[in-house]
Amino acid sequence: MADLKGKDILDGAQFTRDEIERIMAVAEDFRKTLQDTPSLDLMKGYVLAALFFEPSTRTRLSFETAMHRLGGNVIGFSSAESSSTAKGETLADTIRTVDQYADIIAMRHPQIGSAKEAAAVANAPVLNGGDGAGQHPTQALLDLYTIRRERGKVDGTTIVLCGDLKNGRTVHAGVEVYKHYSCKLVMVAPEQLKMPADIVARLRRYGVQVEETTNLEAALAQGDVLYMTRIQKERFADPAEYERLKGSYILTREMIERIKPDLTVLHPLPRVNEVTTDVDSLSNAAYFRQVRNGVYTRMALIALVMGKV
Ligand code: NCD
Repeated sequence: MADLKGKDILDGAQFTRDEIERIMAVAEDFRKTLQDTPSLDLMKGYVLAALFFEPSTRTRLSFETAMHRLGGNVIGFSSAESSSTAKGETLADTIRTVDQYADIIAMRHPQIGSAKEAAAVANAPVLNGGDGAGQHPTQALLDLYTIRRERGKVDGTTIVLCGDLKNGRTVHAGVEVYKHYSCKLVMVAPEQLKMPADIVARLRRYGVQVEETTNLEAALAQGDVLYMTRIQKERFADPAEYERLKGSYILTREMIERIKPDLTVLHPLPRVNEVTTDVDSLSNAAYFRQVRNGVYTRMALIALVMGKV
């Protein structure tokens, strides 16, 4: 059986399908349990450190909520400026320090590879909550959980990924998880923001059917799920380039009703302008349910790596 005890969660590509299935099953158990009780005492007495060197609303609060609902405690910081990073401390030293306080570490950092670097010096398991434009594996798992909840299955689903596929870490992690299921992936992005060619090539070698296009409407016609993403402003060296690209794709209620009335719409959030607010009241809009699913999924990850389930 898949055993995640003591493991770091760093990259969407690290999982076997068995491990993913186990995480999904545990998340589903927690969802059901929380219908009857606000919290459990599985992690009573344990401390999670939430180290956020980069802005976050959902990921940090979701990890914190997950730990609280498991009965554990949380310490941490929510900006590099409020930590000793501002005084010039290295990431490795900050992590070695936090390792003396906490049993498990969730972190977000602007540098690609930072979570891996942290895991190399920490005894506590490290959960990557986003390393620059690199990976965001816990998001990928909660996205998968949401597709399963919304559509009843993942196998055979056509998933349209749209937006900043070059810089978006949620999609970089997501495709590594979807590749275990017989999904077709349709990637919609402006030429400048396409999914990195090495990732696409690797997926194809793995046997995944991948289609790349700049046409969102044509993609929607064949999609079951649309995974919409924000253009990642903070990754642009040239602000003018961001201004040119920021309105590239906008999903409206009219498009869903005209092209694909049973489309499931996911978005990791935050939304800027890429999904109009008139979509929110449609049952197609799964993005706030997706936020809630993040708590169950992160509860599962914490409990699994701590060997509590
Ligand atoms: C994403 C992120 O931080 O990568 N947000 C999230 O974790 N839910 C997506 C984004 O910022 O666009």
